[in-house]
Amino acid sequence: MADTYDFGLVGLGVMGRNFILNVADNGFTAFGNDLDEEKVSALIKEGGDSNKVNATSDVKTFVQSLTTPRKIMLLVPAGKIVDSVIEGLLPHLDKGDIIIDGGNSFYTDTDRREAYLKEKGINFFGAGVSGGAEGARKGPSIMPGGSKEAYQHVKPIFEAVSAKYKGEPCVAYLGPKSAGNYVKMVHNGIEYGLMQLTSEIYDLLKKAGGLTNDELHKTYSEWNEGRLQSFLVEITSEIFDQKDDLTDNDLVDMILDKAKQKGTGKWTSQNAMDLGIPVPTIDIAVSMREISALKAERIKADELYGRPVPNAVDKEDFTVKAEQALYFAFIITYAQGMHQLADASKEYGYELELGEIAKIWRAGCIIRAALLADITKAYQTDKDLQNLLLSSSFVEKVQSTVDAARELVSYGAANGIPLPGLSNALTYFDAYTSSRLPLNLIQAQRDYFGSHTYERLDREGIFHTEWER
Ligand code: 6PG
Repeated sequence: MADTYDFGLVGLGVMGRNFILNVADNGFTAFGNDLDEEKVSALIKEGGDSNKVNATSDVKTFVQSLTTPRKIMLLVPAGKIVDSVIEGLLPHLDKGDIIIDGGNSFYTDTDRREAYLKEKGINFFGAGVSGGAEGARKGPSIMPGGSKEAYQHVKPIFEAVSAKYKGEPCVAYLGPKSAGNYVKMVHNGIEYGLMQLTSEIYDLLKKAGGLTNDELHKTYSEWNEGRLQSFLVEITSEIFDQKDDLTDNDLVDMILDKAKQKGTGKWTSQNAMDLGIPVPTIDIAVSMREISALKAERIKADELYGRPVPNAVDKEDFTVKAEQALYFAFIITYAQGMHQLADASKEYGYELELGEIAKIWRAGCIIRAALLADITKAYQTDKDLQNLLLSSSFVEKVQSTVDAARELVSYGAANGIPLPGLSNALTYFDAYTSSRLPLNLIQAQRDYFGSHTYERLDREGIFHTEWER
């Protein structure tokens, strides 16, 4: 069986197993590797009949079974495990072989690994894979970064297994070094923002609009037929329809309101701060997961402070406005993420094409949405677009929905319903579209107490004033 398999995959958890079966479905032979014998047997059982899939727990046998240059994908948890898997593979590899990290690795780890492996003649790719277990099986969106030359060997397999949007594969070579992991990180930041917004609108519709879970199910599924069509809106609609196995209630009402996180949203925010690019809707989505974790404190504080009883609203009108506000805030969230990508591309030399990125997000990934077709067009029309809000194709979409966001944010503030994502998106919009902000005063204060100097509107140069007290 030496040299017979087209593709190797290390890490036969659900994602890995599904990915390998997807590779085999698309006409390639694939070999799996995992230290856990049970996982190896499970894959052989699941894919054995096809003669296209095999697996072993032995690293040497695994590597020797692959055609050269070997294409080995790792689907293991991010962190030290990736390094130890690489070390285990290295003695058996030849120059020119390719390792692809398909996990959510931090982009600087990818840069380090790429440089380390380059010295040994091995090509290393960081490739974000989005779409969860189902995506891995039926077609994910794949975001690879690394050597452009080496990508040619991986391209046919990735194009075959990826999701398709109107026949076009949702994978593209994105750029050198950690470009792929970086893009996936920002994808996840956007994912955090969209999830936060979807949950805020649910809160409003439930507490103010009085919508039942059944009505929420219908509302979100109607929205999913229109301009809000997206994976997250679709699954949200299905969530409201799910009964609980353990009680007579709907499952959503029985789930503890503490959201966990693995770090990719936080990394997006942290890095945006380093770059000096504002992504406040993503920042607040991370903070809300942190606030949600403080359940015991929240219960105490709720008892201490209470909250207003929400004023009655016209349910139908409120629901129409909610759709508009959500659409508005979705646009703002994508705008922030894309803005970060544009800046990171310059800073890290990724040479990202934002139109290509939006294009491969149109299907397969968690943030896939009808809106991404419009975003793709906007960046294809203007490759150097600094911010989506500056695209003429978005002006009407934003202008026709921003008033609903204003109305709901005011309602939330007056009635004690927290809408941090929505209000944040609105504030970002109002600030970004203000030609004059009051930060002239901050400059004056800085100069006043610290002689930090300021620039002027009417002439060039750096100025300092001896402020009179
Ligand atoms: C994807 C997802 C996935 C991520 C989960 C969980 O694109 O398929 O982004 O990669 O791991 O969404 O992330 P959190 O645990 O941080 O919510």
